[in-house]
This record gives sequence, C-alpha cells and structure tokens, in this order.
Amino acid sequence: MRKQIAAANWKMNLTIQQGETLVNELMEATGELNETQATVFAVPFPYLVNVKNILAGKSHVFVAAQNCYNKVSGAFTGEVSVEILKSIGTDYVIVGHSERREYFNESNQVLAEKIDLCIEYGLKPIFCCGEALEVREAGTQNSFVESQIKESLFHLTAEQLTGFVIAYEPIWAIGTGKTATSAQAQEIHAYIRSVLAQGYGNEVAESISILYGGSVKAANAKEIFSQPDVDGGLVGGASLMATEFAAIIRSLK
Ligand code: 13P
Repeated sequence: MRKQIAAANWKMNLTIQQGETLVNELMEATGELNETQATVFAVPFPYLVNVKNILAGKSHVFVAAQNCYNKVSGAFTGEVSVEILKSIGTDYVIVGHSERREYFNESNQVLAEKIDLCIEYGLKPIFCCGEALEVREAGTQNSFVESQIKESLFHLTAEQLTGFVIAYEPIWAIGTGKTATSAQAQEIHAYIRSVLAQGYGNEVAESISILYGGSVKAANAKEIFSQPDVDGGLVGGASLMATEFAAIIRSLK
C-alpha cells in the first residue's frame, strides 16, 4: 500500500530554536503514525542535522532538504549537493517546488537532472508540479501538469518510480488561503495517476504517493486527504504551528 504522507515545508521561516521547539511539540502526533504513514520535515539546510538528531530512533518521521543542486560537486559556491545531503543523513529532497521554478528559473530538464542525482545517491525526491492561475482559468491544467511530469520523470525506470512521491501544488492555492476543493484535487490527482499508469502500468501508478499542497490546514486536511487519489499533503504556512500541523498529521488516512 502506498504511503500517506504529511510533509511540512518550512520554506525560509523559523529560527533554529523555534524549529527545534516545533519538532519537539509534534512528537506526540508523529508517535501515533503507523506503517503506511509518514511525516517529513523539509527544513532550511542549516537545521537538517539538528532536526535529524531530534528524530533519532523515531519511526515514520523523516527530514527533507527543500532543494539540491544539479551537479555532483565542484566550484558552485553557495550550492548544496545530494552527496552533502546524504552525508548528513537527509532522507528526502523537495525537487521543483513552484517557488524554485519561478524565482530561480528551474526548468523541467534541470529538475530531471536533480531527480537522477537524488536517486543515484539514495535520497527520495518529492517532485512538485502544478499550474498557475492562468493555466487553470484556460482549463489546460491537466496537459500542463502532464508535461511537467513527463519531462522530468518519464526517463526513469519502473523500478525507480515505484514508491515515488509527487506533490501536486496549484500555484494559485499556495499561500493564498484559496484551497483547491477536494473534488478539484481528486480530479487532477486521478489524472496524474492515469498518466503514470499509461507510462508505467497500474502497479507502479498505484504505488506512487501523490500529495496535495496549497493552503492545507487543520480545518480542511481531513476532507482533502479522504479523496482516494490524495495521499496526504505538502504543507507550508500551517506546518509552522504545532497545533495545526499535529491535526494535519492526524488527518492522514
Ligand atoms: P501553503 O500551505 O502555505 O499554501 O504552501 C504550500 C506549499 O508551497 C508547500 O510546499
């Protein structure tokens, strides 16, 4: 059975003290997770080791980097490689968040390179896709997201895609308080799964966790996560508050 995941994306927020307090406050909720559930904390690079240490010995709870570079090593001042991330015990890496695509011009091709490096070094990518408001208004969101997925992931083998994690995050719902309805989320998640099934067969498609992201909060998580093709969420703002994110974790199927 594919994993149901509550992933926190802190983005560029919180001090280390605030972050450590938050993770500690969430230990009770993460302690209730079962074998088919997980919580992931995508924290700023400098906090990865600290958060990893807090989580030592805990089950079903992991740390993620919010990005990585698309080269193995070398003279790339200020960048962080997958090898560095692996060496400090990072579990997951968010690849292709819309903020990276928009502010740092990350293309589907560059993201494909990052995905390959993550896999080569044994890190689990959380691959983000999702359309802007103009695309949604034009009604072409399915083909837009399909291209993002095909251009960054469809060179992978079935084995590499088995158990993979994708996050569908419509840009118009990120940080806007405007959530996709659970029906809108289900519709495009089912479409994404059908694209994966066409390329790789049902078994692979059914093994892939497809998270929803965009203004998920305690008040709407249960309804959104209850949809058959929604396997949890990638959460920004609401993941910065212990009571909110604890309720989101407890909303996993
Ligand atoms: P919000 O939950 O703040 O809308 O952010 C979603 C997101 O971008 C998570 O990666």
